[in-house]
Amino acid sequence: MNKPMTDSSAAPSYVRHRRLLEWVAGVVALTKPERVVWCDGSEEENERLCSELVSAGTFLKLNEKLRPNSYLARSHPTDVARMEDRTFICSARKDDAGPTNNWMDAGEMRGTLNRLFDGCMRGRTLYVIPFSMGPIGSHIAQVGVEVSDSAYVVVNMRMMTRMGRAVIEHLGEDGTFVPCVHSVGAPLAPGQKDVAWPCNDSEKWIVHFPETREIWSFGSGYGGNALLGKKCLALRIASIMARDEGWLAEHMLILGVESPNGAKHYVSAAFPSACGKTNFAMLIPPKSFAGWKVTTVGEDIAWLKPGKDGRFYAINPEAGFFGVAPGTSEATNPNAMKTLRSNVIFTNVALTPDGDVWWEGMTETTPEKLIDWQGKDWTPDSGRLAAHANARFTVPAAQCPSMDEKWEDPAGVPISAFLFGGRRSSTVPLVVEAPSWEDGVYMAATLGSETTAAITGKVGVVRRDPMAMLAFCGYHIGDYFAHWLKVGKAVSQPPRIFRVNWFRRNAAGKFIWPGFGENMRVLQWIVERCEGSTKGAATPLGIMPRYEDISWKGLEKFTRDDYATLSEVERGAWADELHAHDELLGRLGTHLPGELEARRTRLHANLAV
Ligand code: GTP
Ligand code: SPV
Ligand code: MN
Repeated sequence: MNKPMTDSSAAPSYVRHRRLLEWVAGVVALTKPERVVWCDGSEEENERLCSELVSAGTFLKLNEKLRPNSYLARSHPTDVARMEDRTFICSARKDDAGPTNNWMDAGEMRGTLNRLFDGCMRGRTLYVIPFSMGPIGSHIAQVGVEVSDSAYVVVNMRMMTRMGRAVIEHLGEDGTFVPCVHSVGAPLAPGQKDVAWPCNDSEKWIVHFPETREIWSFGSGYGGNALLGKKCLALRIASIMARDEGWLAEHMLILGVESPNGAKHYVSAAFPSACGKTNFAMLIPPKSFAGWKVTTVGEDIAWLKPGKDGRFYAINPEAGFFGVAPGTSEATNPNAMKTLRSNVIFTNVALTPDGDVWWEGMTETTPEKLIDWQGKDWTPDSGRLAAHANARFTVPAAQCPSMDEKWEDPAGVPISAFLFGGRRSSTVPLVVEAPSWEDGVYMAATLGSETTAAITGKVGVVRRDPMAMLAFCGYHIGDYFAHWLKVGKAVSQPPRIFRVNWFRRNAAGKFIWPGFGENMRVLQWIVERCEGSTKGAATPLGIMPRYEDISWKGLEKFTRDDYATLSEVERGAWADELHAHDELLGRLGTHLPGELEARRTRLHANLAV
């Protein structure tokens, strides 16, 4: 039934790693693919795979003049975002996964996976994708090998990571790698015609084994479910490595900010999915900020290690962006628009009649006719979105005009401040500085945000999203808080911690804060605080800038009253907010660190007076 494997399935001679060869052979025996391809990451290989994806109908080549070397993929309508309810941490002990992760007994899960993966690649090609998260050879980097039956995954991983032969050569005969197995879960019977976006309608599983540092993903071909270097390795598994080794793996952007006096600071910011990391990382200061410059190191993930000088050094483990398309425009993010001029894979955006792409918010005027993300004719009165709300672009980071000169520095960049932010229509002021590391950890641990289309499920519901890591912490969230408290004390110069909120709305439901480039005004106050500025006032929540502490040049239309609304601390709303904090902290049991309990008590007292 299964065709015998041809010679071309053999590993190339440069693979000298016996454990890797044995592991791949084991996955091949289980999944029973028609052929095996070891990816070398070359241009030729990429071109071949892209043209195969075009022939298969997965990719549509965009107009070469308007969008050179770029493609559009349309996913299955049930496979459009990360699935948190299908994500599992199978630690040996249930308690180690904690109250915020799905857990299943590892033995039982292995039974399920063996059943699902048995023959799941029949009729397909198994690709071996060696990749490095972080510059190859950096002491902060980690190697993974993803085995996948999706060519879409291969060409995405080639942009998102350092992928191919160089990684195998770096591994040598016995280097350490994280094994990642991925299948779309749609085997083909002999002669069966494939579909454009194969996936499994009824079974989706994204599984992590912390002790053996393994990742298994079944049934989805989309984003973080399938590009296993990203959320699975660089956050869930890496957070466990970081706990064990004394560093941090975070859902954070990294940016550089240079002031007119020449001082340069790097800042790392954790916002939940689709809450503005990409935009903030590529910020262009308003015209009135002459001499200020913002540069990009990363826009989704940061790995941070304590340096000898007592500061945290951060690298971006990724090599590309898998960014939210809707809302991206010349007005909101010109650097992203420039990045997207060529060599892009767009997923689930709309197609224009001349073979280019479009999404909601991209242009001021909406095109009269489009093909929507599901391949259907679309007009502005269709009554549905042209692009899916979680439509994304995949693009090499190196194409972004704002990349920092040190973005690939294997030693990382020193971090002056950590920012935590979410989407909050009410309650949470524009910016607050934590008076101490412990206060900051409390602030970050109790971060709340309204849910977005980046995950399946209901949109717009406030939930606690500690450090924007709710879906990405690979172990007990209470132990993660304890780890944060510990690493801050282990360094002599921990970053200052701030909470921000760009998303407060007025009574008419409109955003009060103009956001985007104007966020520079908040960033300026933050870096000046890092340099010792005393501008600000103590409040029950922490230190907040007064109206006169922020530069309003060029934004005179934003009045003192607007600012007062934006920074108001309403006692009633905060009583509810503290209740929501207590709900999260109450789930931690004996894992709740005493320092956080103490902060909680003090905050209740501060807000009661
Ligand atoms: P992930 O890739 O899912 O982790 O998300 P991200 O945090 O990188 O999100 P991204 O920057 O792509 O932002 C998603 C949405 O937030 C877009 O629709 C933006 O238009 C919107 N957004 C970003 N910054 C701002 C802001 O300052 N104000 C407002 N109102 N919206 C913003
Ligand atoms: C997120 O959801 O936070 C993302 C997109 O960055 S995905 O890679 O699909 O997880
Ligand atoms: Mn993300």
